[in-house]
Amino acid sequence: MHCVKHVIIWVLGILAVASACAEDFSPNLQQLNHRGFHPVGGRSHIRDQHCSNHAAREVIAISSGELRQSGVVLETDFADSLPPVSGDRVQLQQVILNLLLNAADAMAGIEDREKMIRVQTQLEFGDKVKLLVRDSGVGLDPRDIEKLFEAFHTTKEHGLGIGLAISRSIIESHKGQLWATANDGPGATFCFSIPCASSSSTDTAAVVQ
Ligand SMILES: Nc1ncnc2c1ncn2[C@@H]1O[C@H](COP(=O)(O)OP(=O)(O)O)[C@@H](O)[C@H]1O
Ligand SMILES: [Mg+2]
Repeated sequence: MHCVKHVIIWVLGILAVASACAEDFSPNLQQLNHRGFHPVGGRSHIRDQHCSNHAAREVIAISSGELRQSGVVLETDFADSLPPVSGDRVQLQQVILNLLLNAADAMAGIEDREKMIRVQTQLEFGDKVKLLVRDSGVGLDPRDIEKLFEAFHTTKEHGLGIGLAISRSIIESHKGQLWATANDGPGATFCFSIPCASSSSTDTAAVVQ
């Protein structure tokens, strides 16, 4: 799973380039610079309007083979007609990817029940998109939940302990929240919610369905 993470992160780098180029299939350097893409120094913040279902589907598509090999069954329950969110699609995909990989890690030693991840999207209060990743893994101690979001807190032999800290800061930079709850049954659910794009938003560089 460790190597797989690197491959997926590498693929996400390519997605970053693809999303920078999404408006034009033959972009020139001037256009890329205009969109904030810097091939040598890394990409800067690119905000556009996009559909969370579509963003989540892309992440699931690149990770589903490996999840299947790890014996994980992944199911989705996406809300219909979800309004777009405004934000950095690749950063938000990195958050979703981290939640999926954490869920898979949390189920690595499970043998007495199905290893199940459920990715769900919902419209919340009419103006927020909520995305939930529910697993059937080892679960959480409700008293320790906030510790998981601290940088360098890890319970894994090869963990860095920065995934959730970075994910939370990405979500907060989108004016949203990221939190976790222990399931009633086995496992944990990690959720984030971010505001829908307002129709008056000025950062509507591209609308991706
Ligand atoms: N789905 C989950 N179920 C149980 N524990 C989790 C889950 N996701 C994260 N954790 C806990 O939170 C810790 C921090 O996660 P993260 O910041 O992504 O770092 P890392 O994955 O490198 O350990 C993990 O080491 C694990 O103990
Ligand atoms: Mg992690």
